[in-house]
Amino acid sequence: MKFRLILMLLAVLCLLGGCAAPDGATTDEGYDDLIVVGFSQVGAESDWRNANTRSMQQALSAENGFRLIIDDAQQKKERQITAIRNFIHQGVDYIVLAPTTEDGWETVLGEAKAAGIPVIIIDRMIDRSLATGEPGDDLFTCWIGSDFTRQGNAAVAWLEGRFGSTPVRIVHLQGNYGSSAQVGRSASLDEGLRRNPQWTLVARDSGDFTQAKGQELVEAYLAQGIGFDVIFAENDNMAYGAIDALKNAGLTPGKDVTIVSFDANRKALEMVAAGEIGFDVECNPLHGPRVKAVIEQLERGEAPLKYTYVEESAFDSQGLSRELIDSRGY
Ligand code: AHR
Repeated sequence: MKFRLILMLLAVLCLLGGCAAPDGATTDEGYDDLIVVGFSQVGAESDWRNANTRSMQQALSAENGFRLIIDDAQQKKERQITAIRNFIHQGVDYIVLAPTTEDGWETVLGEAKAAGIPVIIIDRMIDRSLATGEPGDDLFTCWIGSDFTRQGNAAVAWLEGRFGSTPVRIVHLQGNYGSSAQVGRSASLDEGLRRNPQWTLVARDSGDFTQAKGQELVEAYLAQGIGFDVIFAENDNMAYGAIDALKNAGLTPGKDVTIVSFDANRKALEMVAAGEIGFDVECNPLHGPRVKAVIEQLERGEAPLKYTYVEESAFDSQGLSRELIDSRGY
């Protein structure tokens, strides 16, 4: 009896004042005042990825006028396709996609287009042919991310400067196959191998951008007796795993083996300063404010730039100051 009375009282309060949504929205429907964004995230495979998710959460907060629904695809494209279909079904205002791989998006993005939901791609690229450049034909509104081949070229140029004509044996830890980050960075190393016949590729496998697999791979190479001078790790987490494997085997990273890596997380920059990582190319994950700005443009009826490459830098121990490391946002 008492319980029913409380329920009735709550219902009356809701009718008078509107229902409070979990993220602070106060409307009859729960979220009417907020711009609803469905974000299909690759996963949580790396520190970079987690920083990217946090950046999106901070920028697309309820205080800023957004309701952000995040789906973690655990590095599986099929899960991303399902998530996008769910967002369409829910009738979100915008879809943001951080794609696992470049291919395979045509059908589901066609469905989003048919539903009239703008799609913003971040981080990795999708097959460029899905944007014909003809107004009305494109399957996505815009893309914001990194130039992964440029990043790879910076790492290769540093290795060329460091080793000159000395022969080196290289271990290559790749990201998940088919992702722009893997495709671009691997293409640069392939080009470097063609240009430098004194370089030998002694092992190459995908560590899926994870620390555990980076460590596993390097442990396996050492156990097989493969000798190497350089590890080209396609992200910081795989470099951390590789460093653990080297140390466990009694080797000194930075002395016995030179490591180049990508992302330039704060922890990795500390390792550059300590001489464990030789060179680290920045990959900037802080896309939240950029996505917010794009949505605000679209809300005003303006057309955002189709492709935005973020500015990125690269670091060896010489270019690093304590101030720079401490001010790192991720
Ligand atoms: O696509 C960006 C890459 O994905 C980052 O280099 C890596 O850390 C992440 O998992």
